[in-house]
Amino acid sequence: MTSNNNSNINNNSNFSNEMSSDTSRYTRDNNGGFPEGFMWGGAVAANQVEGAYNVGGKGLSTADVVKYCPPEQRGSLEQLLSITHGELTQALQDEEGNYPKRRGIDFYHRYKEDIALFAEMGFKVFRFSISWPRIFPNGDELTPNEEGLRFYDAVIDELLSHNIEPLVTISHYEMPVQLVQKYNGWESRELVSMFVRYAEVLFNRYKGKVKYWLTFNEINCTLKAPFLGAGIITEGRDNVKQIAFQALHHQFVASSLAIKAAREIDSEAKIGCMLARRLVYPYSCRPEDVLQAQTENQMAQFCTDVQVRGYYPSFIQRQWRDQQVTLVMEPEDETLLRENVVDFLSFSYYMSMTTSTDPAHTSKAEGNLSTGLKNPHLEASEWGWQIDPIGLRVALREMYDRYQIPLFVVENGLGAADVLEEDEAIHDHYRIQYLAKHIEQMREAIADGVELMGYTSWGCIDLISASTSEMRKRYGFIYVDQDDHGQGTLARYRKDSFHWYKKVIETNGADLAEKI
Ligand code: BG6
Repeated sequence: MTSNNNSNINNNSNFSNEMSSDTSRYTRDNNGGFPEGFMWGGAVAANQVEGAYNVGGKGLSTADVVKYCPPEQRGSLEQLLSITHGELTQALQDEEGNYPKRRGIDFYHRYKEDIALFAEMGFKVFRFSISWPRIFPNGDELTPNEEGLRFYDAVIDELLSHNIEPLVTISHYEMPVQLVQKYNGWESRELVSMFVRYAEVLFNRYKGKVKYWLTFNEINCTLKAPFLGAGIITEGRDNVKQIAFQALHHQFVASSLAIKAAREIDSEAKIGCMLARRLVYPYSCRPEDVLQAQTENQMAQFCTDVQVRGYYPSFIQRQWRDQQVTLVMEPEDETLLRENVVDFLSFSYYMSMTTSTDPAHTSKAEGNLSTGLKNPHLEASEWGWQIDPIGLRVALREMYDRYQIPLFVVENGLGAADVLEEDEAIHDHYRIQYLAKHIEQMREAIADGVELMGYTSWGCIDLISASTSEMRKRYGFIYVDQDDHGQGTLARYRKDSFHWYKKVIETNGADLAEKI
């Protein structure tokens, strides 16, 4: 199934050919600035903002069964991101416990107010996800839940009335929980047809309204965190790698079929893949460390190799062999993947890590999906995520060199414990610094020749954390008055970064200065 034949690259992607030939749109150097039409905005996910988890016919999602765990009891990242059968059973019966993603920030009832604030900042684009169980409560129904669709009709119309382009993620870290109980999530190929049915409903409903789509959020997460990324319970299972690679293959197939459907339904639709791009540097210049870093980077990038080029790269065979993985594919899969590649490549970027084969290096650097070694040249956030704006430029240059299709930074931001002052101000100077430095590096990457479509800062309004389900870690330009236990008025407040980002957008990225 692997191939070294590059002649198939983008051969079915009329959109990317169109965009790539119009490179001036994304690379034109406006005196070293951002191109005209650059899409500035923000991003959220349904399960982290909506709340209303049992309203409007919505079914329970995998996010609704994740219970809050106080920091001192959190254990390993692996434990935090997985669930046991016992925990799932308990969650399904528990109506009183602290399940933060059930309440989100009540975007479901406050979307108008929130979108008005995004519009005030001048957003050109808003990235959000649709909750699969709001549309198909159990996942395997044949007809969608009309009330769920009506909610998204209203959100999309509200965005369009403010001239904000919707960018929709079809699956962002949640699925109907029944698909876990019946099929163990994406471990089963049965999910492919259900996902495609769901995607087709969306393409038909939002044809002419939604132009930009992403199929799966951070698709490479399935390998690192199978429950979060693919609804898989791994408790008591042997060879988790086999299960995860197989699940990922099912997601690749589902993504390709969705792309095929989108092109048939709406010739204007533009579909991207989405990768968690955690950059890995060698800890030292020892060749062993360099090789190790290359392998770790390849292990993330192989997902985009499949989704952009249309085939598994040859190096993955070695990984499968070493990890005793035997992938089961249907005869049509190869053609399907090759003929239905994405139009653009989107990714999240928060941090970089280092790696080494030398066991003497033990200094641990934190992250939301995986950890690595500390880089002595970098500072870290309060949560131990290493801050590396230049790494964003490295990632952009590398990915553009590798694929030569338009890129989109759809997540980037700083999680911090902001303080609401008595005068209702929030002085988040640290966030402004973080964002300004990353935007500066995007500008440099564009000057380097990278085609960059846009930038949606993560958690543009404070939301529930994907990894820790806490509220204390905030990313937003807008403060939401709620704590980890759901206490607070849910009132929204503009942070200093709100005014700063407004100016960034107004000047199309020319003015990044912080006025104090
Ligand atoms: C990305 C996810 O990995 O990181 C988001 O796509 C998530 O859903 C974001 O919220 C930040 O991570 P966290 O764990 O701080 O919420």
